[in-house]
Amino acid sequence: GKGGYDHYMLKEIHEQPAALRQTLRGRADPATGDIDLEDFPAGTFADVDRVQFVACGTSYHAGLVGAQYLSAGGVPAQTFLASEYATGQPPVDDNTLVVGVTQSGETADTLSALRQANTSGATTLAVTNVVGSTAARECDDALFIRAGPEIGVAATKTFSSQVVSLALLAERLVRDVTGTRTDDTRERLGALADLPGHVQQILDYSSARRVAEEYRDSDAYFFIGRGSVRPVALEGALKFKEISYEHAEGFAAGELKHGPLALVTSETPVFAVFTGRNDEKTLGNVKEAEARGAPVVAVASDGQDAVHQYADEVLTIPDTHPDVAGVLANVQLQLVSYHAADLLERAIDKPRNLAKSVTVE
Ligand code: F6R
Repeated sequence: GKGGYDHYMLKEIHEQPAALRQTLRGRADPATGDIDLEDFPAGTFADVDRVQFVACGTSYHAGLVGAQYLSAGGVPAQTFLASEYATGQPPVDDNTLVVGVTQSGETADTLSALRQANTSGATTLAVTNVVGSTAARECDDALFIRAGPEIGVAATKTFSSQVVSLALLAERLVRDVTGTRTDDTRERLGALADLPGHVQQILDYSSARRVAEEYRDSDAYFFIGRGSVRPVALEGALKFKEISYEHAEGFAAGELKHGPLALVTSETPVFAVFTGRNDEKTLGNVKEAEARGAPVVAVASDGQDAVHQYADEVLTIPDTHPDVAGVLANVQLQLVSYHAADLLERAIDKPRNLAKSVTVE
């Protein structure tokens, strides 16, 4: 059942601290920097020379984060929409690892991309929530995100658990491929270990409902972020449109001025995500929106005074490593979407036209 919540989505948003503890359990030790990933002992990926992620929707956004973790650590990585993978025909050889990120493990587009990769000689790996799913069975190996069952059509806790799983996988890959750990391994693993508690703080104190109420009659909703939180901006918009049926778009913060700014008015709130890295640039983009009269809702930690000065509202996240802040920011945006949809009395757990697992291409 819904355990006292009005919707599965809200229940699953609130399950994130527990889900993340499960995802992390026994896998990473911040004190030593050690990683222990079941089927993937040190050296597993020594022959890999590039990684390609294939995924759809929310899982694609997690894959974008995964590729950034790898690239930053010196492993060439790209993320493809699974439905575009065949058309894109990226080069694949024996040393290519193709990672399908799929909560259900049953998404037809993703399965089809994985089969193509397999035929081309790549090694395939499923990052999935469902043991025994088609992706887990068909791939050479599987990494389980251990988020627990997700009933709501909107993916929430599985996104968080996917990103954390990909962070751990990236640590393993970077060490195996480059022979060195990421520069700040312990800080990173410490930030991951802190996530369950940090997410709980957000769930306890979020002002997302008040923000959703304040902007409920807007013409459209825009989400911007750069670097590690560009995927979070995209995900914020996907979730918002999916369950509220309101127009929402996510952009790289720097792209706002290259077209989307024409849509920005006093009736289009802009949600801007800050991580503590490259914030001045995103703040510059916020000012462009503000100059057109747009209300600005920042997602940022308390210490970011300049951000607080320019934003009309701030959804606060605990201070953490910039690579991990996106998971926290995303929880605030999940709550905004949920409350916006709830105020509009939408069918939150079963939005029109959508299915939990999409088994057609
Ligand atoms: C959005 C959502 C979808 C899925 C997508 C892929 O909230 O849930 O965008 O993320 O259909 O599903 P999986 O991860 O099962 O492959």
